[in-house]
Amino acid sequence: MALFLDSVDPDEIKSGMELGIYSGVTTNPLLLANIPPEDRLERLGAIAKICVKSLYLQVDRLSLAEMEEQALTLVEVAPGRTIIKVPLSEDGLKLCRRLHHLSLPVCLTAVFSATQAYAAAAAGAHAVAVYVGRITRRGEDGLRVIRHAAAMLSAAGMRAVLLAASVPDIETLAELLTIPGVDATIPYRLQEPLLRHPGTSEAIEQFARAARRQH
Ligand code: E4P
Repeated sequence: MALFLDSVDPDEIKSGMELGIYSGVTTNPLLLANIPPEDRLERLGAIAKICVKSLYLQVDRLSLAEMEEQALTLVEVAPGRTIIKVPLSEDGLKLCRRLHHLSLPVCLTAVFSATQAYAAAAAGAHAVAVYVGRITRRGEDGLRVIRHAAAMLSAAGMRAVLLAASVPDIETLAELLTIPGVDATIPYRLQEPLLRHPGTSEAIEQFARAARRQH
């Protein structure tokens, strides 16, 4: 039930990690798209210094050989705490197996169905990123799909972590965190709704008013 921050922005990551609520950071090529390609590795290195926990770093090459070469470079960004994200495909599954045999953890990502999650876990994935929000936007129920995947993995005795990604809102996050075996990664914009409640703000104001009366 670990929570991750989905960001490549050093300020967001610093702000999030100071709170102590995240188990690490997840990244993807879309988040890195505004950074020149030649600077991306350096940015990931900077993130590794701010976040000293787990880092999910995604390959963006297309062929198996190139993905493998890039994966071995990404592992060096934060040795021992990098999980390599690989989009689910036949080559992605092959790479997952190869890295698994090297004892390197892999997260198969861009997973949209329970059967894909099963295949990812069977190939030795450490984690399986299920795109809950995108599934729902495509007309299915993202929560239902990830619950189905969790039941499937549990029935098969598979230990892969289901990483709920593409989390659209705080209500969905609250539901996701009730599913055994599910971690979640959230965008920075969900950090505030995760923490705020009008009742808490009201109580803090009352405490402050009471404190002023006593002094
Ligand atoms: C996380 O690792 C995923 O890549 C991310 O949550 C995808 O989210 P999006 O659907 O908002 O792009």
